[in-house]
Amino acid sequence: MNLTLKIWRQKDANDKGKLVKYKVTDISEHMSFLEMMDVLNEQLVNSGDEPVAFDHDCREGICGMCSMYINGQAHGPDRGITTCQLHMRMFNDGDTIYIEPFRANAFPVIKDLVVDRTAFERIQQSGGFISVNTSGNTQDANAIPIAKSAADEAMDAATCIGCGACVATCKNSSAMLFVSAKVSQYALLPQGQVEATDRVMNMVAQMDAEGFGNCTNTGACEVECPKGISLTNIARMNREYLKATSKG
Ligand code: SF4
Ligand code: FES
Repeated sequence: MNLTLKIWRQKDANDKGKLVKYKVTDISEHMSFLEMMDVLNEQLVNSGDEPVAFDHDCREGICGMCSMYINGQAHGPDRGITTCQLHMRMFNDGDTIYIEPFRANAFPVIKDLVVDRTAFERIQQSGGFISVNTSGNTQDANAIPIAKSAADEAMDAATCIGCGACVATCKNSSAMLFVSAKVSQYALLPQGQVEATDRVMNMVAQMDAEGFGNCTNTGACEVECPKGISLTNIARMNREYLKATSKG
C-alpha cells in the first residue's frame, strides 16, 4: 500500500503545532499501525529529519500507552483494540490518514503525538488502592466468599488499561469511565470496603481538580474503549459517591 499521512507535529507544549504531510510506500497490510509508523520514522531518520514522537510500550494491548487519534477516532477505525493492535488491513491503498494526539485540557501535548497523562496517575494515587494487613496474621484470601457475578464484574472493571481514549473521545473530556472502572473494581469486592468512602470522594475530587469534564451520558467513551468498559460502572460510581456523601 502507498499512503499519505497527515501527522500532528508539535515541538513542545508551547508550540502551536500543525499537520504535516508525509508519504509512505510498500506498506504491508499485515503490519500493525505502529510498525507503519516505524517505517515512516526510519525514513525520516535516514533523510536527517526528526522522527515523529509517539508513545508505545507493550505493543500488545496491555499497557495503554499508544494513544493516537486516527481519522477522527481514538485508537482508529476498529472496535475493542488499541492503536498497537490496529492493522494496516483496515486501510486501503491510496488512503490519506490523519494522525493526531489525544486532545483534552487535562492531557497537554508534550511533543507530536505524546500527551501527558499523569493526571490519571494522580487520580489513581488519590484512592485506587486497598490497604493490606501484612503483619503475619493475614487472612487467607480464599476464606472470603465472593459471589461469582461480583468477581466477574470486578475483573471486567479491572481490565481498564488507563489509555485515555474515553477522555479523548468525550465531548466534555470526561474521565468518568476511567475513574468509575477504578472505583468499581474495589467497590464490588469485600477487600475494597474499608476505604470505600474515602476512595470515591478522593478520586472524584482529584478528577475534578485535574480539569476533566462531567458525564452527560453520551456513551462515546464506552464505544471507543478498547477494553469494553461498560457505562454501568459510571452508574455504580455515582451510587458509591451518593452513599459516601450521605454518610457525611
Ligand atoms: S475506560 Fe477504557 S478508554 Fe478509558 S482509560 Fe480505561 S481502557 Fe482506556
Ligand atoms: S503499546 Fe501497550 S497498549 Fe498499545
